[in-house]
Amino acid sequence: MINATTYTARAHTNIALIKYWGKKDEDLILPMNSSLSLTLDHFYTETSVTFDEKLSDDLFFLDNQKQDVSNVSTFLDIVRKKANIQSKAQVYSTNYVPSTAGLASSASAYAALALAASKAAGLELDKPSLSRLARRGSGSACRSIYGGLVEWQAGFDDETSFAYPIKMPNNFEICMIALIISTNHKKISSRMGMKRVVETSPYYSNWVESSKKDLLAIKKALAENDFKTFGEISEENAMKMHALNMSAHPHFSYLEPDSIKAMKIVEGLRLQGISCYYTLDAGPNVKVICLKKDVSSIVNIFSNSFGHEKVLVASSGPAAHLI
Ligand code: PMV
Repeated sequence: MINATTYTARAHTNIALIKYWGKKDEDLILPMNSSLSLTLDHFYTETSVTFDEKLSDDLFFLDNQKQDVSNVSTFLDIVRKKANIQSKAQVYSTNYVPSTAGLASSASAYAALALAASKAAGLELDKPSLSRLARRGSGSACRSIYGGLVEWQAGFDDETSFAYPIKMPNNFEICMIALIISTNHKKISSRMGMKRVVETSPYYSNWVESSKKDLLAIKKALAENDFKTFGEISEENAMKMHALNMSAHPHFSYLEPDSIKAMKIVEGLRLQGISCYYTLDAGPNVKVICLKKDVSSIVNIFSNSFGHEKVLVASSGPAAHLI
């Protein structure tokens, strides 16, 4: 039995530069390939968890609205099993990922839930164990346990699949500019998209091999303080992921006409000597990786073409922590 103590955690979302795209185990959420991301400062989730033996069911509130609790309950069952407790829990979450941002909130959501729920259940997990727990909610969440640059090693089972931090080169003041192209709910979730490419794309094994090479090459670029190569590899890796979607059966794409327009603008800026590179996740919004010194020029160009309110700027953010 544990006391009904409330723990509150904050976790920041992350943007993948080498993408996780495809699972080898859907239940344990083990990825086909390792990935690398940047945790972001301005976008985060705060979650409070209280296990209370007086509760007859789990309860989940997001931004003060009562939600369907099934996914959260499935996750809490994993925590209860680890802690050997039966009590139900109440979970209150607030998303500080702007609802219009189209930035993945599942990463920050499950990283915050993993930290708050494990503490509230009386568990003292080290960081790799916490990362493994967050992974069970949403793969990308295992990277949000850490700040800055983070690698998720694919591993081969539950014990070996977790994230760890990667050293940020001293001269890298990385920023990410998100251009909001659409906030419509995506028709193909990342879960569905991944499953379809794994099962039907004739190029899937090439993606896994190519991502392994991209990861080695991007880490070499980091070790050599080479932002240009770092950006080029990120952009190419994202394009390979989107090409994979177009090679699936039935084929699909998250890109919208405005995504292409924004990508062309970034390519044009590069011709003018500005070192900036795009990446896109399971949606049409374009995220541009650049150095701090170039943020205002890029924001100005995007604001003129798409409107100031569609442009958000973030930089490297901290690890998940209790508050
Ligand atoms: O963790 P999920 O299920 O939200 O999947 C994330 C997939 C991508 O955002 C496209 C890539 C990644 O590595 O974050």
